[in-house]
Amino acid sequence: MILIVGGAGYIGSHTIKELVEKSEVLVLDNLSTGHQWAVDERAIFVKGDLGNEEDLEKIFSSYTIDAVMHFAANSLVGESVINPLKYYHNNVTETLTLLKVMMKHNVKKFIFSSTAATYGIPKDDFLTELSLTKPINPYGRSKLMIEQILEDFFHAYDLHYVVLRYFNAAGAHESSSIGESHEPETHLIPIILQHLLGQREKISVFGTDYETPDGTCIRDYIHVTDLAKAHILALNALLTGRKQTAIYNLGNGTGYSVKEIIETCEAVTERQAKIEYVERRAGDPAQLIASSEKIFQELGWKAQLKLPAIIESAWNWHKRNV
Ligand code: UFG
Repeated sequence: MILIVGGAGYIGSHTIKELVEKSEVLVLDNLSTGHQWAVDERAIFVKGDLGNEEDLEKIFSSYTIDAVMHFAANSLVGESVINPLKYYHNNVTETLTLLKVMMKHNVKKFIFSSTAATYGIPKDDFLTELSLTKPINPYGRSKLMIEQILEDFFHAYDLHYVVLRYFNAAGAHESSSIGESHEPETHLIPIILQHLLGQREKISVFGTDYETPDGTCIRDYIHVTDLAKAHILALNALLTGRKQTAIYNLGNGTGYSVKEIIETCEAVTERQAKIEYVERRAGDPAQLIASSEKIFQELGWKAQLKLPAIIESAWNWHKRNV
């Protein structure tokens, strides 16, 4: 049985769609930001909190867990700058509770959702796993802290783990049955598509004076199903003993500016956006682009879906949910 903590969220629910084909899946989620409707019906769902030791004890004593995937976290860069306590509590303290109960029950295979925000302001055009990690916001720091804790747990308790550093997750499942659904929504692509569906008056572009060709921030957008597939490969590598520890970047290796994203959304939807240019948002680095060469070499993973296909899948999902 594979335990998916935070399986009702955006990336967790897409990973479950891939995982239920081959494994028994148990989901723990407190539904603070996720949705029970997003969890595939073939998975067992338990409503509970990863910070609650009693909830965890019940699960680990009732089921034989072979590995844990941990998706449950707060993940908004801007919010983390304003409310760091929430981020250090939910992302660090609660993860420690999960790890503590795992160690007690001798469950020693772990896949951790990390982020490109661990790099801070990049010195390299393409970030590799060896690039300097110097986060510039509490969200990135909270994830890096867990990465460091995992390394110590490997040495002290023989915890085997894979850290997956996501770049900008986007898109929706090919069935359009699940997709990105945050409340409130803060991410660029869903915001643009909601605007193009008439649900928002305009799009605000945060900052036009970055050191990038058009002055807006550049990000590496990666389809959520590509992310999901990387989790399956990482899990197999742990379960077969092929890997004891690893850190992998997950991105497409191509950067798009905020302006380019808006233009691609306009092209895919054949609609025109109304844009306002405003101040920078706190905590945003100018550019984040991945090199995902390491996971290609070691596990054979490569992103399949490029930007127009990513936006098209998101558009299909948003149109269904107007
Ligand atoms: N942006 C706008 N207007 C908006 C929303 C976003 O201009 O209304 C800009 C942001 O300033 C940023 C870019 O669009 O430059 C992308 O912003 P998102 O909020 O969509 O995504 P982030 O890059 O801030 O963060 C996402 C995840 C993080 C993760 C990061 C890694 O939310 O968890 O990608 O790159 F750490």
